[in-house]
Amino acid sequence: MKIAVVYHSGYGHTAEQAKAVVKGIQAIAGAEPVLISTNDIDKHWQDLEQSAAIIFGAPTYMGSVSAEFKKFMDASSKIWGEQKWANKLAAGFTNSASQSGDKLNTLVTLAIFAAQHSMLWIGLGLMPGNNNSKGSVEDLNRLGCFLGAMAQSNADQGPEHGPTKSDLKTAEHLGKRVAEFAKKLA
Ligand SMILES: Cc1cc2nc3c(=O)[nH]c(=O)nc-3n(C[C@H](O)[C@H](O)[C@H](O)COP(=O)(O)O)c2cc1C
Repeated sequence: MKIAVVYHSGYGHTAEQAKAVVKGIQAIAGAEPVLISTNDIDKHWQDLEQSAAIIFGAPTYMGSVSAEFKKFMDASSKIWGEQKWANKLAAGFTNSASQSGDKLNTLVTLAIFAAQHSMLWIGLGLMPGNNNSKGSVEDLNRLGCFLGAMAQSNADQGPEHGPTKSDLKTAEHLGKRVAEFAKKLA
């Protein structure tokens, strides 16, 4: 059961988040993650067609998906015309420098993209963390999103410093959750 993770990362931070999603997929027996950078997308259209689920990931640039990721979205329009991804599972993740950084708009963009392909969107499935007096930045879903996995990476540091551990664990949770649902449906 293939599960594809399609992502773009200009500077390596979102790539770390994508790897964490893959780790979560690997936790489910029988799930085979396929990690695809949008830079290599032309070699992987068939992998996407063969996947039970596609998890989309983009950094938030200027309040939305990066232009490179949008290029991938637009390139999928022929597949959209034939509705070849209909009824596959979908989910999304994004990473940006600010705690908010308007990341939600990126996830909304990914969810609408999935809906246009008639895919079935899987949310994060975690209660918000770090939102009460006992909470901390170590909590899963510390950025408090339901639609997908959010992560934050400092703008002045490389991918070896961020996203934070809790954000990577949150991404891992998303990968595991999608793989579990794909297995149930298979
Ligand atoms: C063109 C550009 C636009 C950006 N816009 C935002 C933004 O809207 N909100 C934000 O919080 N960070 C923004 N950032 C910061 C990136 O989201 C952040 O550096 C992120 O970690 C980059 O991920 P990447 O290394 O996978 O490319 C922007 C960065 C770039 C290069």
